[in-house]
Amino acid sequence: MRQNDELQLDKFDTKTFQKELLGWFEAEQRDLPWRKDQDPYKVWVSEIMLQQTRVDTVIPYFHRFIEKFPTIKDLAEAEEDSVLKAWEGLGYYSRARNLQTAVKEVHEKYDGVVPNTLNEISKLKGVGPYTAGAILSIAYDVPEPAVDGNVMRVMSRILTIWDDIAKPSSRKVFEKAIRALISHENPSYFNQAVMELGALICTPTSPSCLLCPVREHCQAFAEGVQTELPVKTKKKSTKKVKLGAVILKDKEGNVLLHKRPSEGLLANLWEFPNCEISSLRYGKKQVEAYIKEEYNIDATIENGILTKIDHVFSHLTWNVEVYIGEVHHFAQQEDLRAISAQQLEEEYALPVSHQKMWKYYNEGKQS
Ligand code: ADE
Repeated sequence: MRQNDELQLDKFDTKTFQKELLGWFEAEQRDLPWRKDQDPYKVWVSEIMLQQTRVDTVIPYFHRFIEKFPTIKDLAEAEEDSVLKAWEGLGYYSRARNLQTAVKEVHEKYDGVVPNTLNEISKLKGVGPYTAGAILSIAYDVPEPAVDGNVMRVMSRILTIWDDIAKPSSRKVFEKAIRALISHENPSYFNQAVMELGALICTPTSPSCLLCPVREHCQAFAEGVQTELPVKTKKKSTKKVKLGAVILKDKEGNVLLHKRPSEGLLANLWEFPNCEISSLRYGKKQVEAYIKEEYNIDATIENGILTKIDHVFSHLTWNVEVYIGEVHHFAQQEDLRAISAQQLEEEYALPVSHQKMWKYYNEGKQS
């Protein structure tokens, strides 16, 4: 099928496709902790964590999160800081904040029961079409599509769909494809099987077509174009931001942490005081001036850089120059605190880049 063509499914043997795909999934699926039952809360947590994050990374976070917040009620009643701490290192922290906001709504409005209709579930914060479809199908066996990048890759090959998957408008083409093929007997397994096929067989580069349970249904394999699909245009290169950050300790050995604003990148996470600098060469002077003006911190920053840390976000890169220093005087404020090293590690959620600074500071090496 060329881009914008209608899906041609008249020759597609949907029933056999479903049977072979589901048979393979039943035999080969990975033993993943969120597959132990169909608890909608656990499915929800796992699907939010799995957005932008690999399965191997998610597994230990999922275990810890469910142990800390076993039910909707526990998460609804938790302090936001403790939720962020449990999410620390997973990135895209708005996922955690939105999840908690939505869980509070389920607790209050739906008596703690995750809604099972597309209309109600889609109104929850952070629940877009993918997550709505994933929860409805996996937990409630509603035959809704759950289309993410992996599903688009698999379906683009099976049906030779040439639409650019980087374009938001392409999603509806793939949703239509899934609606046409989804098993109404077992929507939960069907959607998970497509995801699993994308993870284990129909991988981005060098797909294992010879092991594929649905190879005989795959239009791309028949035409020999499996490595040309999906069509995905490249994003523009990301913006680079230079930062200077300083690990400041007071005479008692407490460390200064600043709470990021409640909106925007890494909202409400804690960090070492830092600011954008115009050139790495004058970083120290700019950081010194900033902490004095912005927080009225009286401190001495040591000459020389402790280390440099680069951190890549989806839309920008931080190049951070890290300094150390001593605080002589400052006034405690809601968003600026001197805390012990133990508190920093056990109670305060820091972005990965700042965790790395802390690790380097203590161990003298980059992780
Ligand atoms: N990726 C997204 N959702 C998933 C799931 N439920 N299982 C495995 N990988 C996934």
